[in-house]
Amino acid sequence: MSEYIEIFDTTLRDGEQVPGCKLDSQSKLEIAEQLDFLGVDVLEAGFPISSPGDFESVKSISKLMKNARVCGLTRAVKKDIDVAAEALKPAKRSRIHTGIGTSDSHIKYKFNSTRDEVIERAVAAVKHAKSYVEDVEFYAEDAGRTDNEFLARVCEAVIKAGATVLNIPDTTGYCLPEQYGAKIKYLKENVTGIHKAILSCHCHNDLGLATANSIAGVLNGARQIECTINGIGERAGNTSLEEVVMILRQHKDLNLDTQIKSQQLFGISQLVSDRMGMMVQPNKAIVGANAFAHSSGIHQDGVIKKRETYEIIDPAEVGVTESAIVLTARSGRAALAYRAKKIGFELDKKQLDRVYQEFLKIADIQKEVSDSDLPKIIEAANI
Ligand code: KIV
Ligand code: ZN
Repeated sequence: MSEYIEIFDTTLRDGEQVPGCKLDSQSKLEIAEQLDFLGVDVLEAGFPISSPGDFESVKSISKLMKNARVCGLTRAVKKDIDVAAEALKPAKRSRIHTGIGTSDSHIKYKFNSTRDEVIERAVAAVKHAKSYVEDVEFYAEDAGRTDNEFLARVCEAVIKAGATVLNIPDTTGYCLPEQYGAKIKYLKENVTGIHKAILSCHCHNDLGLATANSIAGVLNGARQIECTINGIGERAGNTSLEEVVMILRQHKDLNLDTQIKSQQLFGISQLVSDRMGMMVQPNKAIVGANAFAHSSGIHQDGVIKKRETYEIIDPAEVGVTESAIVLTARSGRAALAYRAKKIGFELDKKQLDRVYQEFLKIADIQKEVSDSDLPKIIEAANI
């Protein structure tokens, strides 16, 4: 029996902080509804104090959600928390996500403050949030670069104040997986009262390590992952939801799983990409256009004989209709015969040899040979 990992989706909050992208309120509702169907446990709907538009969309999403808990972000500021509580009122189940920077650089340069004062502000914020909702998540911003001993002191204090979830963000995407995993382990082992709260991974992708760090986090005892569809977010983005979900699903030996309905992953990836006007890179794991496409002859031959030779995931499991055998100048006879058969041409060995020579002439000129080119190629081979 696998242990349960909660999925905290922040596509509509951290994800929406993508430079140059903005979602209108209708699109936010549409995406929120699909995330609810997908099975996310928590949906961070926005930062209600940041603008009247964000306030209204958190409120509308709160009315709409059937299963997911709705979460609103705040700073450790009383007014932020009041406004978030108001926006979340219509939700069946809600969470306030409050916090403050804990690294020495945040304390010194952002707040011109001290470690003790930061703990006081953190505790006051959690207590205030707790006066509105039972479920309060605390984030220690820049935890990735925060000294572990101090971080443990902060965690202990906010648990005492009532925090139910402790978010340990690698805000700048600095950590290596070993470091991030060790941080979570350290907190598990050194924070008094840690059994009263869930540790959460929130990793950024500045060094391309967000997914690896989140996995290192859950392997060391975290039980929630914060992520976005397509890994969108500030700068190089956040942990990608589809990646962490499929890693846990593929590696059953880890005994960790989520309740995400993976067959919906490709569809929701396309929806977010379309509404945000932000294409998914073709080589993106799980949902990129090339994630299940094979173009070299050796790979195509292997996949046609047995899909698993070059694919670790059945495309249907993530909502992709089928693996693509792309015809290029690097394709071999097996791929050509396979694609020709799909459109009704069964070729024997001699015919295939002739068609293959015609095919190469076209493939050398065109980047890709499509189904509509094939009948002409077959005719040119006098078949
Ligand atoms: O990256 C970060 O630290 C955040 C917090 C506001 C949770 O997004
Ligand atoms: Zn973030």
